[in-house]
Amino acid sequence: MSVPPKSLYVHIPFCERKCHYCAFNSYAGAPDATIDRYVETLLLELGTLGSDLALETIYVGGGTPTALTGSQLDRLLGAIDVARSGPEPEWTVEMNPGTADRDRLAALLSSGVNRISMGVQSLDPVRLKRLGRIHTPEDVTTTVSTLHDAGFGNVNLDLIYGQPDQSLSQWLDDVSAIIALEPEHLSLYAQQYEEGTVYTRARDLGKLGECADEVVLEMFHAARDRLSEAGYELYEISNFARPGRQSRHNLNYWRNEPYYGIGAGAYACVDDERRLNEPDPTRYVDRIADEGHAVVERESLGSVETYVETLASGLRTKEGVDLDGLRARTGFDPRQLHGEHLDRLATEGLAAVHDGHLTLTLAGLWILDTVMEPFLDGLPRDTAACA
Ligand SMILES: C[S@@+](CC[C@H](N)C(=O)[O-])C[C@H]1O[C@@H](n2cnc3c(N)ncnc32)[C@H](O)[C@@H]1O
Ligand code: SF4
Repeated sequence: MSVPPKSLYVHIPFCERKCHYCAFNSYAGAPDATIDRYVETLLLELGTLGSDLALETIYVGGGTPTALTGSQLDRLLGAIDVARSGPEPEWTVEMNPGTADRDRLAALLSSGVNRISMGVQSLDPVRLKRLGRIHTPEDVTTTVSTLHDAGFGNVNLDLIYGQPDQSLSQWLDDVSAIIALEPEHLSLYAQQYEEGTVYTRARDLGKLGECADEVVLEMFHAARDRLSEAGYELYEISNFARPGRQSRHNLNYWRNEPYYGIGAGAYACVDDERRLNEPDPTRYVDRIADEGHAVVERESLGSVETYVETLASGLRTKEGVDLDGLRARTGFDPRQLHGEHLDRLATEGLAAVHDGHLTLTLAGLWILDTVMEPFLDGLPRDTAACA
């Protein structure tokens, strides 16, 4: 039996400029009228989810949600607030440094947004230019203090490590500078070279020096040590939080629980099915107008997929995977199906079972794909279930 989602993701596929490393579903230079139509279409799609949605977490991401004007944000966030019911949810909006003007902040605060996530990537001005970012280090400092002064007590900042030609000491300068801003939460992502990006083309032409894997690993450990001294706990392979400030929205994903997703290119996991919306914003708008939905892919989630996916995402986290919960949900238990693999992981210091939760050590986390492989063996062909 599937349970109704307690989380909603809303995708805003617009950015002022495309960053050189980014392959997310986002487009630069959309005219205001296009963004207006897109927002109106989001409201139509929101309406298809029903009313009185008991949402515990809401995440408006992108792209750049603050590519919307204050009044567009007002309209969107106001409609979400009307559609939901129940106690105050964790409500995150992604923002780019330098876009926290008075109108936008007023729209965020009046609708109940209580968490801001901001893509900082680096605090080195030369590196920011190279990444193709539109902001300066000063924009970051000013925006974080504006947000804290405005009453946002839950701010996340994203950084990228292992950037081309980045040294360990340059990376640690970024880590120290970001700690000084006192965010409640930090996401640290290892640089990825995605197909079709300026970075990947430059690397393939030999114009960007990729960081060696050992250096990337050293950067991760050094950052983790420094953040731990500063009171931030690593609770997922890329995420650190002050006590009580873990992202509940992301924990919902990592626990492989269902979620609504609206907007161009948004995924949803509802009724034992994963659905993907049309990624192109104009075609998305047309599909919703013509057909009332914009789903381009559906994947039925049986108990085998749910077992594998719950393990793969749960093992990324410090809380790990609740093995009794997994068995109740899917009928499968790694202690019975993959006992030998679990013993081997424990002997090699890669995993442990404590209080019925399977967790990975840092060494295990770093080779998650290898750890996961044997869990795929010996599974039956599929039957049905996503939470
Ligand atoms: C979906 S983006 C949206 C955040 C927001 N638009 C921004 O960039 O300010 C979320 C985060 O993913 C990370 N990211 C995006 N592309 C990446 C890549 N190629 N390698 C590593 N991290 C990446 C960045 O840290 C970014 O802030
Ligand atoms: S990293 Fe963020 S701001 Fe840059 S293009 Fe991607 S989504 Fe837009």
